[in-house]
Amino acid sequence: MSDAAAIPAIKTLPDAQTVTSVTHWTDRLFSFRVTRPQSLRFRSGEFVMIGLIGDNGKPLLRAYSIASPAWDEELEFYSIKVPDGPLTSRLQHIRPGDEIILRPKPVGTLVHDALLPGKRLWFLATGTGIAPFASLMREPETYEKYEEIYMLHTCRTVAELEYGSQLVAGLKNDPLIGELVGDKLRYYPTTTREDSPLMGRITDNLESGKIFDHYSIAPMNPKDDRAMVCGSLAFNVDVKEVLEGFGLREGANSDPKEYVVEKAFVGDGI
Ligand code: FAD
Ligand code: A2P
Repeated sequence: MSDAAAIPAIKTLPDAQTVTSVTHWTDRLFSFRVTRPQSLRFRSGEFVMIGLIGDNGKPLLRAYSIASPAWDEELEFYSIKVPDGPLTSRLQHIRPGDEIILRPKPVGTLVHDALLPGKRLWFLATGTGIAPFASLMREPETYEKYEEIYMLHTCRTVAELEYGSQLVAGLKNDPLIGELVGDKLRYYPTTTREDSPLMGRITDNLESGKIFDHYSIAPMNPKDDRAMVCGSLAFNVDVKEVLEGFGLREGANSDPKEYVVEKAFVGDGI
């Protein structure tokens, strides 16, 4: 049973959804699944507002990428735990049976429609920025539209990669999507502050050509390559510069081009 004082019941709200499972990955990261409103339609890669009732009795909501694919009957989220964060200091204590608020209005730029057709698709993420790609890596359209998919995820430590690495490990044998995934998905997880088999920042590994050498492929070019980016503001700014250096241009839902970007979170003072 959960602590009723910590997670107030929100059954009276129309947008309440029930938590079905919670997994704690590190002291800073957890994932959870909730029931899906029957009416909710979204495109894999989009985000919604979720939250709890705040101390003032009003909804306390934050943007969250939906980490599950559009076909999943539940919704999955992958979350940071900010010690003093208004929402996550409390959200990290949710347990199965608890309820959260979920506003069923999905939006976002990390969607297939925002990219022109291409041959290779690059998912570039740091930290919890892997969440929209956890959705897109399980989306059939990803494998129908592209010949090769590269998932580059960078964290400070190995433990922070675990959610993504377990998800990828399970994909090939997934009864629904496994056959489509086949050998198309290439997962390149790196750390920057702890030794691991693959090391270094995504920006450095792209700029140096290390990643292209690793897979024995040609460097990025605007004809073949499409990219989706999700990380801290600093990461997004630096990756954009690298992608533009390869000749890729930023697109949007209304103006598809070669790459799209979304913030994984809004940093302090930004
Ligand atoms: P806040 O007051 O919101 O944040 C406090 C500080 O914590 C921030 O200033 C920042 O420095 C840091 N911080 C916040 N979020 C993160 C993070 N994810 N990683 C590292 N540091 C962080 N968060 C998720 O955990 N998972 C998601 O899928 C996710 N998707 C998002 C999608 C969008 C489009 C945006 C704009 C944000 C997203 N966020 C996501 C961030 C999320 O909205 C909240 O900021 C986060 O849940 C913390 O809420 P809080 O109220 O506890 O603290
Ligand atoms: P580094 O350890 O070299 O700073 P954070 O936890 O600070 O959000 O960082 C998550 C991961 O993203 C870390 O591995 C970090 O590497 C990397 N990172 C942070 N800022 C950038 C950036 N501007 N360009 C590339 N990688 C970055």
